[in-house]
Amino acid sequence: MTQTAGKTDLAQIGVVGLAVMGSNLARNFARNGNTVAVYNRSPEKTRALIENHGDEGNFIPSESIEDFVTSLERPRKAIIMVQAGTATDAVISQLTEAMDEGDIIIDGGNALFTDTIRREKEVADKGRHFVGAGISGGEEGALNGPSIMPGGPAESWETLGPILESIAANVDGTPCVTHIGPDGAGHFVKMVHNGIEYADMQVIGEAYQLLRYGAGMEPAEIAETFKEWNSGDLDSYLIEITAEVLAQKDPETGAPLVDVIVDAAGQKGTGRWTAINGLELGVPITGIAESVFARALSSSTAQRSAAQEGQLPSGTIKELDVDKAEFIEDVRRALYAAKLIAYSQGFDEIKAGSEEFGWDVDPRDLATIWRGGCIIRAKFLDRIREAYDKNADLPALILDPYFKAELEDLIDPWRRVVVAATQLGLPAPVFASSLSYYDSLRAERLPAALIQGQRDFFGAHTFKRVDREGTFHIEWSGDRSLTEY
Ligand code: ATR
Repeated sequence: MTQTAGKTDLAQIGVVGLAVMGSNLARNFARNGNTVAVYNRSPEKTRALIENHGDEGNFIPSESIEDFVTSLERPRKAIIMVQAGTATDAVISQLTEAMDEGDIIIDGGNALFTDTIRREKEVADKGRHFVGAGISGGEEGALNGPSIMPGGPAESWETLGPILESIAANVDGTPCVTHIGPDGAGHFVKMVHNGIEYADMQVIGEAYQLLRYGAGMEPAEIAETFKEWNSGDLDSYLIEITAEVLAQKDPETGAPLVDVIVDAAGQKGTGRWTAINGLELGVPITGIAESVFARALSSSTAQRSAAQEGQLPSGTIKELDVDKAEFIEDVRRALYAAKLIAYSQGFDEIKAGSEEFGWDVDPRDLATIWRGGCIIRAKFLDRIREAYDKNADLPALILDPYFKAELEDLIDPWRRVVVAATQLGLPAPVFASSLSYYDSLRAERLPAALIQGQRDFFGAHTFKRVDREGTFHIEWSGDRSLTEY
């Protein structure tokens, strides 16, 4: 980046909040040739960053928000990396106060997109720009190249784009960052990304469960299986780290680490937001919602221990009666199919959100910037991009000709695995519910007709007919004649 002589002492970008994500992001900016202003509420973190990493590039540390703002080149650009919620609001208000017209405040945390919409209005009313930017890739991504999903005004992207491109992950020469759309679009898309991540992790978990307790494989052997899978259609960061986790022994006992970890999954809530939003928009994101429920169920320790003490009958449990190698391959295909459904549903939610809020989000952009840096990075995203390149208005991702052809190969193994899980008495909530979703989409007739009949019976909610236009009601408590409205 070229700088005019007098400007070299100023920073091109600032980072407020120097916990792990914030300081890694600041280091990434500095390592890529940007002068970075840094500030943290408690000055010890600022000092620690400079002491430990000050030699990685140009930093301008400040111990007051005013000095921090003064150290920024105009239009000033500051990324907030503090705790989501009230801390973010507090810092936004301090920055808005200290900044001038046209300066840009970027929230790089995992904010709820409706908060971002609100904040953008508040900040814009004071003449500053506000950009809610989803940043994915965890600590490692923040340092070495995340996938970045900025929303906010297109005008801010003009200024901000080149700086964000300098630190984002890069796949085949394309940086994993682009302007997603106005106001809350970036955080919305990041939220759905995280929801998809929940589903991706859950289907991997279900595959593991079936191989472990259905096929009786040990974690180390399953680790090898996942390693093999990582060289095919499932090639992805999450499959890669799954193999690592399964191969890991507990340093204390020497037992497989997965066996000493308490099986209650935590969450910070972005998956839950995605599910809630899916419900609000009326988009069936069954894979994501089931994954959130699966985490909640895993943490329902009192109910689980009561059930394990034999209070709930198992029914007849059948041993696996198929060849192990064939079963493993079936599980791989079921995992691929359920994953495909979860992504297809996630893209449906993004489309619905974009229409609801008028964002004009392009699904091709997401498939492009999620290929690197973020947790769901995968070869598979190239296929998704190709699908939307061919037809940006696909009614559903699974209807793309490539994925339809894949499903020809996946459907029978997927059905077999869901049957096997049922007979083995093993939970596979996303494998099973995704299959029901798939069969629901395919079904010529759904029981919704019966539900409409019930609704008309008890609440005179009326119904439509298949054979002609109009709205109808049966006089259920009278002569059962048909009334047309
Ligand atoms: P992590 O989980 O990585 O620790 P976090 O909890 O999301 O990160 O954010 C912690 C950061 O938010 C810290 O930089 C913290 O500042 P301190 O080091 O002074 O605690 C910052 N933070 C939290 N509340 C804040 C507030 N009200 N004003 C300013 N910064 C705040």
